[in-house]
Amino acid sequence: MRSPHGTVSTTTTISCLLFIAVLPVSIEAVQSTFNYVPIGQNPTLYTPGFEPIMHLDQMTFNDTVFSDRAFLVEFYADWCGHCRAFAPYFRQFANMVRDWYPVVTVAVINCADSFNQAACRENGVTYFPMMKYFARTATTATQGKLFETPHSAEQIRDALLRTVSNEYMFNRYPDWPNLGHIAVDSRTTYGQLWDGVPQKANYMAILFEEYDGVGAQFVMDLISRSHILGARRALSNSPLVQMLNIRNFPTVALFRRDHQQALYMQRYTNQTVKDIDDAITNDMEQGGRRAPILTTTLAPVTTTTNTPLIDCHSHPERCRDMYYVSETDMLKAMRMALLDEVTRVPGAIRGDNFTNLHEFMTLLSNHFPVLSFQNDIRRMRAKRTTSVILRNSERARLVFTHMREFLEGRKSIGSVSSDEYRRQFESVERVYASPFPVNSTWQHCKGSSPMYRGYTCGLWTTFHALTVHTYIDTIKDDYVNPMKPLSTIQGWVKSYFGCEHCRNHFMHMTTTLFPLNERRVRHPHDMMTYLWRAHNIVNNRLHGDSTEDPQFTKMQFPAPFLCPTCHSGGQFSRRQIRNFLLRYYGSIKPHNRLADQRLAF
Ligand SMILES: Cc1cc2nc3c(=O)[nH]c(=O)nc-3n(C[C@H](O)[C@H](O)[C@H](O)COP(=O)(O)OP(=O)(O)OC[C@H]3O[C@@H](n4cnc5c(N)ncnc54)[C@H](O)[C@@H]3O)c2cc1C
Ligand SMILES: *[C@@H]1O[C@H](CO)[C@@H](O)[C@H](O)[C@H]1NC(C)=O
Ligand SMILES: *[C@@H]1O[C@H](CO)[C@@H](O)[C@H](O)[C@H]1NC(C)=O
Ligand SMILES: *[C@@H]1O[C@H](CO)[C@@H](O)[C@H](O)[C@H]1NC(C)=O
Ligand SMILES: *[C@@H]1O[C@H](CO)[C@@H](O)[C@H](O)[C@H]1NC(C)=O
Repeated sequence: MRSPHGTVSTTTTISCLLFIAVLPVSIEAVQSTFNYVPIGQNPTLYTPGFEPIMHLDQMTFNDTVFSDRAFLVEFYADWCGHCRAFAPYFRQFANMVRDWYPVVTVAVINCADSFNQAACRENGVTYFPMMKYFARTATTATQGKLFETPHSAEQIRDALLRTVSNEYMFNRYPDWPNLGHIAVDSRTTYGQLWDGVPQKANYMAILFEEYDGVGAQFVMDLISRSHILGARRALSNSPLVQMLNIRNFPTVALFRRDHQQALYMQRYTNQTVKDIDDAITNDMEQGGRRAPILTTTLAPVTTTTNTPLIDCHSHPERCRDMYYVSETDMLKAMRMALLDEVTRVPGAIRGDNFTNLHEFMTLLSNHFPVLSFQNDIRRMRAKRTTSVILRNSERARLVFTHMREFLEGRKSIGSVSSDEYRRQFESVERVYASPFPVNSTWQHCKGSSPMYRGYTCGLWTTFHALTVHTYIDTIKDDYVNPMKPLSTIQGWVKSYFGCEHCRNHFMHMTTTLFPLNERRVRHPHDMMTYLWRAHNIVNNRLHGDSTEDPQFTKMQFPAPFLCPTCHSGGQFSRRQIRNFLLRYYGSIKPHNRLADQRLAF
């Protein structure tokens, strides 16, 4: 699960997406995330990704709400005045409980959107705004429990807290934080106080309260620290109160697992959580100072050379600089795609594999970018294009052309041995002075640590650049088949992409979930936007995944810092997206030969 903090995304209205509605429901489980941009055409009252509020739609409602968490869902209509008036309170409430999401997640659905009609009907939504609580055990819409919608964030929070506590008391889910009061008698050991505190957490905070007061909120507010700190609550008549000599309530005491004396004990205020964080940090640092004495015989710890992460919210300009299309990355990726991937399986390249390779090579020889337009689409329109020739790519195009002809020579046989293909490729690239910079590091696609990004990033980049440059190259043609570059890319993925689950996901997406067909890809520019949208579907699925580079989180692309005008009112503007894609993929940072330690050709 991933925290909603600091994620970015936007809404998109792509009319053709509505075709998904006619597909049989539940082809596969589709769950919303905090980053999820709902399908539909209406504006949303809340901005996906910017608030700790999850967006639901017809496609995701069931699979998201009837899962392993409780949900509080606001059913609203974007045009409804009451909903707009309620939104600030709801937003404030959602922020107050943002850390509670592993237990109870705050979500919304726009019932004014015709796409969501069935979901809202099933939930008996008769007025707006309407709020319903779905217990963790809920499995159908009828189990939603109606909630009031007062204009007070505190009141909604308190009502939610009561409901969640009730649900806990009935079910005692072992993986929820322990919301019960600590019960202590003469035989209770120190270890037993830790019941319900996760094993990995070395610290525990206990809140002592006189009656059923703030304790539950305290426990819920600390959920996000559960890997370090467990929270419990105890009543003022507990024997612990005397042992610890507590006189005022509520009071909070902090303990470490191996240490029975409180590390910290104070009246509970709005500063307490911060104080606890400081006390733990302090305690860990002292522990850290002692550590070297115990570990002097161990090998020295390798120092990390990772550069510190840049926060894109506070430094949009620095993040903008990290996003560019790199010639180096595309050339590196293409050599891996055409050589390593294609020849991984020994034997003959034949049948569909042969056709798919030939078509991909043809696409590369025709449209692999060799010009970089200097970041100004208006000049392109005015035919006063300033462009820079990409020298390595020019030579790479010759390699592609040569290889295409080589494959055409085998077309009558329809097959070539993988060894022969490899030898041919290696000799042709030598002829053209090795245009593929295998010895250079990744540029834009360099991860904040080597386990991230790299080849697959280079692949995506090249695929997008191919659609954009095919579009630019054929803009004056009378007839263009916009499906062609996309189905060619799909063919390469199907036959050769070595990441098997990626390949399967991609094939499933482009055939079933978001099928690549003439309805979606009708106009020449659809070749760019189809792939853009498909990549965003992948980004959404992988957001929060362990493969996500913390510096390059998988937000819906382009993030506002890259293209402010692409976003308006929580939606993507398709026209602005097209212009952005043309600018972004039209302008390519040339390979720097000096970085490669090689002399000019
Ligand atoms: C076809 C394909 C399928 C994949 N499927 C999976 C999978 O199922 N599971 C898995 O774990 N990994 C999968 N991957 C890998 C994954 O998508 C990423 O490539 C990888 O995690 C590296 O991510 P990244 O941060 O470098 O950005 P990437 O997602 O690789 O994106 C590269 C660059 O493309 C640009 N970009 C991002 N989004 C868009 C967009 N919507 N439109 C235009 N440009 C954009 C940005 O400049 C970004 O830095 C797949 C890769 C490919 C090529
Ligand atoms: C949710 O599930 C119910 C029961 O399986 C089904 O009748 C309904 O159509 C589903 N609703 C949505 C919005 O998918
Ligand atoms: C904490 O509460 C005091 C008053 O009780 C208030 O003045 C202060 O602004 C609060 N601080 C925060 C961080 O909310
Ligand atoms: C195509 O290549 C894949 C491996 O990538 C292989 O499993 C498949 O059998 C090949 N198809 C043909 C017709 O050779
Ligand atoms: C990469 O480095 C190796 C070893 O130094 C060298 O033989 C090779 O020619 C280099 N390749 C390119 C494309 O620069």
